[in-house]
Amino acid sequence: MSKLAFIGGTGLTQLGGLVINKREHLSTPYGAPSAEFISGEFNGRPVVFLARHGNPHTIAPHKINYRANIWGLKQLGVENIVAVAAVGGITEAMVPAHIAIPDQLIDYTYSRQQTFFEDANYPVTHIDFTFPYSPALRNVLIAAAATAGITVSPKATYGCTQGPRLETIAEITRMERDGCDMVGMTGMPEAALARELGMNYASVSVVANWAAGKSEGEITMTEIEQNLHLGMENTAQLLQAFITMTDGDY
Ligand code: HPA
Repeated sequence: MSKLAFIGGTGLTQLGGLVINKREHLSTPYGAPSAEFISGEFNGRPVVFLARHGNPHTIAPHKINYRANIWGLKQLGVENIVAVAAVGGITEAMVPAHIAIPDQLIDYTYSRQQTFFEDANYPVTHIDFTFPYSPALRNVLIAAAATAGITVSPKATYGCTQGPRLETIAEITRMERDGCDMVGMTGMPEAALARELGMNYASVSVVANWAAGKSEGEITMTEIEQNLHLGMENTAQLLQAFITMTDGDY
């Protein structure tokens, strides 16, 4: 059985229903991961959980040590990663609390550590990133959503911004023109780093708010928290269905 990890984002600092066996702080050649790695059983199946923003939630998206997080998961033998992420909704279907399983992304971030392949330890390597999310993992997530009776968008393009501020209306208009359905701050370089280490990676993106200019008025943290609360209930059910659907091989 290949090993599975969930990375939790804003709104999912802890995984309810996880029976914890072990908590491990790992050191990596890239520095410290966001938090301890929690190994346990979720719905009777083994899983590793990591809180991307730390626990408590204190690490801003541009400060997350993505390399240490992915390296740590690899060290633990993880082969499959399902990453939960909060996003702002851009296109019509992306209403608050909705869930999307993106199939494409556009990276608008800058000044982040984007690769493992940049020093004497590795030859320069250009990973294939035509399909940034694992089609196999996505298919199981989509099937799990159907089993759990949760409506998800089975395809969407995720635009990753630098943050931590939210966007301007002009930025969202440009992203929409580019083809983005939703906007988040943590999808990259996380997805690319997982691919560099040969791990399957998929995202469960939970809409926390309409992106800038898509609804009247300003975006508040209260609104984000309320919508995420709703969306995370469905996410937890989706993850439970997901983990019981296969024997861990994707
Ligand atoms: N923009 C970027 N990231 C986000 C948003 C948003 O509106 N909502 C949640 N994460």
